[in-house]
Amino acid sequence: MTDTRADTPSTVVLAYSGGLDTSVCIPLLRERYGVKKVVTVLVDVGQPASDIERGNLRAEKLSDEHYHIDAREEFVNDYIFPLIKANGSYEGYVLGTAIARPLIAKKTAQVAERLAAEALAHGCTGRGNDQLRFEAVFRATKMKVIAPMRDLDLAREWEIEYAREHGIDVPVTKERPWSIDENIWSRSIEGGHLEDPFFEPPEEIYSWTKSPSRGLAPEIVEIEFQEGVPVALNGQLMNGMDLIARLNSIAGEHGVGRTDMVEDRVLGLKARENYEHPAATVLLTAHRDLELLVLSRNELRFKAGVDAAWSEMAYMGLVDDPFYADLNAFIDQASSRVNGTVRMKLHCGSAISVGRKSPDALYSQDMVSFDSHTLSQRDAEGFAKYHGFQARLLRHK
Ligand code: ARG
Repeated sequence: MTDTRADTPSTVVLAYSGGLDTSVCIPLLRERYGVKKVVTVLVDVGQPASDIERGNLRAEKLSDEHYHIDAREEFVNDYIFPLIKANGSYEGYVLGTAIARPLIAKKTAQVAERLAAEALAHGCTGRGNDQLRFEAVFRATKMKVIAPMRDLDLAREWEIEYAREHGIDVPVTKERPWSIDENIWSRSIEGGHLEDPFFEPPEEIYSWTKSPSRGLAPEIVEIEFQEGVPVALNGQLMNGMDLIARLNSIAGEHGVGRTDMVEDRVLGLKARENYEHPAATVLLTAHRDLELLVLSRNELRFKAGVDAAWSEMAYMGLVDDPFYADLNAFIDQASSRVNGTVRMKLHCGSAISVGRKSPDALYSQDMVSFDSHTLSQRDAEGFAKYHGFQARLLRHK
């Protein structure tokens, strides 16, 4: 194993989640890297309150100095709302983990800068995307970056044993070895038997969604959007955090928003991933539906490409790249007319739009109706004559 004592940083600030990996990082930083002072930063992006509480207690016991930062509002307003406007998804699922990482990294780096620490640390492995997302932010500072999990090439079984030896009581066991990443928007579950992509996930991995096959009666929810972001649920104005939490519980009851897939990580590895994101599924489906009502055909076509580019940048955690800001500028402009209400039906795991209305609709019921004479159909005849014109020129040559 690597011994990096030669240029030992005396104070290191660790992005701490309270889970197994980052918990074992604390003694590892002291024992293997000779760090004198380990400072932990737990950033609240909407993990369950009990996890935050347990994480804080654990950190206070294990680290030399601990900070707990409530970043939930910033996460919703500056990360989730832009994602909704951009229909942010990757290979078919709603982005979740990816958008929280840059914010966690930023808050951690700010503490380190305030304390004039020599290094920043994270608990990501060398196999995943999170190392890239953290370091895109960390390396913008002048500080050294330490990644013990990656550096020491640790296996989960070894970590569980090491944690036990160091009196760290983590909830992970060999029977329930799931690696879980959770924020207010999405919950991701990896590891253990799930690594066999042919293995059907047991019901126990899910915590936000009930089984979709319970057969509850359908439920209608109405989401109101202003400038591309949700502002009201069932007619009640709410801040983003309350709206997402409320909708997670309503849609979760119907089993909406489970994803089970094989995903291409940035490094090229394919990984089996399981997610739960009930509110995100409802909001993105509704948002997309509203866009179809209010945006022009050209805007929709062009925005699909912009959204895809945005999603890729967000997936990679490159949110400080000027290209990301350029994309957001277009998305914000296009979103200025995304106002209205979408009626969503939740039933047995599905969330479908069943109604939409908007003061900015580019829709004329009068003109499109089978029963109206406002539009003179004969006007279309000239248009129809020229439609497919060049193909005919070729054929009749
Ligand atoms: N594959 C997802 C991503 O790259 C989730 C990664 C973190 N998940 C976890 N359970 N540790 O965004």
